[in-house]
Amino acid sequence: MRKRVALAFSWLVILNLNVVHAQVITGDSIFESLSSEAGNPVRGRAIVASRQTGLCLLCHSGPFPEERFQGNLAPELKASVARLNAPQLRARIVNAAHFNPQTIMPAYYQTSHLNRVAAKFVGQTMLNGQEIEDVIAFLITLNNQN
Ligand code: HEC
Repeated sequence: MRKRVALAFSWLVILNLNVVHAQVITGDSIFESLSSEAGNPVRGRAIVASRQTGLCLLCHSGPFPEERFQGNLAPELKASVARLNAPQLRARIVNAAHFNPQTIMPAYYQTSHLNRVAAKFVGQTMLNGQEIEDVIAFLITLNNQN
């Protein structure tokens, strides 16, 4: 019995971790972090370069010498980061369509107003809050590189 309760409880914790935080876009920014842990730039770089999770390089290019194929459908990431601070980047990654309803960039942290979502992904965001924060932490480091 005890075991069962513990099991149910651990499920609750897992479900809770996946709860999508409410995001408030103030001006052109989201000031509140989407995770309790600070963003990790090393993990963020891996997400940006990944063809399974971030997919950013499908459209964007950036300082990734190991990636031969990078996109040319979107601004180069380093140039964008030179113009945008962390809260501005957060808002754009959470929901690019807020800024341009016609954009081809996916809304990485939305569960509603999406098109053609496969059944198993309904109610889920493309990246979780921690992953978004990791991506932002990585992007910010691009500002300090030449
Ligand atoms: C399917 C293509 C596509 C993918 C995938 C994509 N983007 Fe974009 N992104 C765009 C386009 C196009 C724009 C230009 C804004 C617009 O559409 O009006 C943009 C804009 C941006 C901007 C704002 C740039 C600026 O200078 O204003 C940032 C930051 C950004 N993307 C980051 C990312 C990150 C990080 C990822 C991966 C997690 C990503 N994008 C994935 C297409 C994409």
